[in-house]
Amino acid sequence: MEKFETVGEVMITEEQIRARAAEIGKLISEEFKEGELIFVGILKGAVMWMSDVIKNVSNRDMTIDFMIVSSYGASTKSSGIVKIVKDLDTDIKDKNVIIVEDIVDSGITLNYLKQYFEGRGAKNLRICTLLDKPAGRRVDLVPDYVGFVVEDKFIVGYGLDFDQKYRQLPYISFLK
Ligand code: IMP
Ligand code: MG
Repeated sequence: MEKFETVGEVMITEEQIRARAAEIGKLISEEFKEGELIFVGILKGAVMWMSDVIKNVSNRDMTIDFMIVSSYGASTKSSGIVKIVKDLDTDIKDKNVIIVEDIVDSGITLNYLKQYFEGRGAKNLRICTLLDKPAGRRVDLVPDYVGFVVEDKFIVGYGLDFDQKYRQLPYISFLK
């Protein structure tokens, strides 16, 4: 497979991600058999992962929504400040909400979003992340559904960017 010079080896393949998404989609379907279910993707990073997961929740009604939050800018370290750039279009009160993220690093973004969603009256809240980078954690946050645990590298591909680039890579890799 052709690669950018700045991008390292393939860490996780598309096939591995799809297979894991199928497992997680089934787990979510089993956990939430009743009640309204909404998946909220955090743009832009979560697009590919979210599309893979929701294809596997085919046994019940569900809806999707998206938010845009920003905290990073063009740096590889979190600024610690979370800003809502695009809010929900949907009322989530009394609904089962699955927040879909690309990666949990410091945990600051999801910690903020969790409180925000609880404030809006979500009944059950779960976090479904493609990647978990526990080494980066700065707040106490444990995601409920994790695709893969990654080491402390700056990850790109499959939706994850550096300065808006590399999101299109059909695999998970890292910046050299
Ligand atoms: P956190 O608030 O530090 O947990 O980071 C949340 C956001 O930072 C994620 O949604 C990503 O957009 C971005 N981020 C954190 N680590 C990485 C990485 O290794 N590669 C690309 N983006 C990252
Ligand atoms: Mg990002």
